[in-house]
Formats: sequence, C-alpha cells, structure tokens
Amino acid sequence: VIAYFNGRFLGESDVRVSPWDRGFQFADGVYEVVRAYRGRFFRMNSHMRRLRHSLDELRIGYDDVEALPGVAERLLRENGLTEADGKFYVQVTRGVAPRSHRFPPATTSPTVFASVAPISSATESHTAKVILTEDTRWARRDIKSLMLLPNVLASQAAADAGADEALFVRQGMITEGSHTGFAAVRDGVFRTHPSGSEVLPSITREVTLELCEELGVPVREEAVAVEELSDCQELMILGTTAEVSAVVAIDGRPIAGPGPITSALQAGFSALVARELGW
Ligand SMILES: Cc1ncc(COP(=O)(O)O)c(C=O)c1O
Repeated sequence: VIAYFNGRFLGESDVRVSPWDRGFQFADGVYEVVRAYRGRFFRMNSHMRRLRHSLDELRIGYDDVEALPGVAERLLRENGLTEADGKFYVQVTRGVAPRSHRFPPATTSPTVFASVAPISSATESHTAKVILTEDTRWARRDIKSLMLLPNVLASQAAADAGADEALFVRQGMITEGSHTGFAAVRDGVFRTHPSGSEVLPSITREVTLELCEELGVPVREEAVAVEELSDCQELMILGTTAEVSAVVAIDGRPIAGPGPITSALQAGFSALVARELGW
C-alpha cells in the first residue's frame, strides 16, 4: 500500500511517525474521509472546505489543503484503484515538538498523512441497527478532530450489543451517530439536528437536504427527542460510507424500514452521485 506522508509517496510500512507528534501525544489534529465512486471523488470540495474549517478552528497552520485532491488522485493511481469504490483518509496534526500543552513555535511543520482503501459497495446493506448512548463529547463537534474517544467507546458499545451504530443523546435529544449523521421522518417531515457546534457539518446531510428539496420533502432542522422516536415513521443514519442507511432496530427493538422517504432518498442519492460524477 502506497501512502502519502509529509510531501512524499511511500510504502505504508515506511511511514515513521515521531512519538513526539502532537497527534500521538494530544490527539492534536484533524481528519477527513472522502468517498470515491469508481475512482472519482464525491464532493471533494465540500470535504476540503470542512477540513479548512477544522484546521482554522484549532489554529493549525497548514496551508496546502488545495494540494490534497491531487494527492488523493495520485494515491488512487499508485494503488491501482482508479476504477474502484474507495475512500481517501487524510489527517493533519500540529506536528512534532517537545511535549507541552502550549502550541509549539510557529515554524513547526504540521504532520500530514493520507491513504486510500477500497470499499466493497456490494456488501453494503444500507440498513443499520443502532443503540442510544449518552453524548459525552466536548462542545465543539463541528470540528472533525482526531479526539475520537467518546466515538470509539460508543461504537464499541454498539458492536458489543450486536448493533452497527450508536446514536448520541444529549439532554434527551439525538445529536448524531458515532460516525454518522442522524435524521428521522415524522408525519412526512424530514427532521435532523440543526447545524452548529453540537454536530459535525455532515456532507451527506447536506446532500440529503438538497435531495429533500428536489423531492419536495418538507424539512425541519430541529433535533429529534428520544421521547419522540415512537412517533417517527422512518429513521436513518447519514454518512460518507453509510450513505443513506435505514435504521432497522433501536436498542434491540426492530423497526420497519426502509420507509418510502428513506427509499426515495437512497435512490436520489445514487442518481445524484451518477449525475455529478458524469455517468
Ligand atoms: C460524528 C460524525 N457525524 C457525522 C458524520 C457524517 O459526516 P459525512 O456525511 O460528512 O461523512 C461523521 C462522519 O465521519 C461523523 O464522524
């Protein structure tokens, strides 16, 4: 596997990260994941815009975001994935410096690592069993930071319960999943948490809102309460790898799905990808 590390393309096993890297010491860094369909990246610009936002909010001085789409393309070529469904992962940390909570000198170069991996679309069911779990994350969830411990614990709790995803609950309201966005349909209205600092600005959510507009589905950007779940007809998770997936069980209780709006969004999503990527 060929990876990208600090300006060079090299074998993944030749990547050497310092133990003093601030990503390793403090999770002081950010990341992005971009999906490729048949070797073409979907909404790369939106992901790069979000990466810039994450970097700016953490005041990490990395000014080569414009080069990353080229890096992603070359990684597909180097790894023979130019016709494949895959994903591009990139992370940028504040760099290597003696351990101190304070920022290192401004001359410290960020550490950049990127790789691509194939995704087997054929095995994706587009359904998900979920559990509910307390949202113990920090208050800046709009930043796609490497500090994912609450997400890791939630995701493992889901796996331990035989589920696929954990939905975070904060003050009785569903925010999002451990690595996906969340939406529901109640009485024909598409509901999802408003954007802001409480959730990641999900690119799939953005696409889904566009599709609702196209399909004439009314939207209310208002969080869904746990108490309201039994009044919702459809639940779904949204993400770069999950795309639009129907929630088919919550905390072990099966629920019917995918419903009509979820199905329409799934079909609309595939059609939109095909249209944007030119086939
Ligand atoms: C916490 C969280 N929310 C939502 C999402 C979905 O975002 P996107 O649609 O941009 O993949 C992710 C994806 O990684 C995530 O980690």
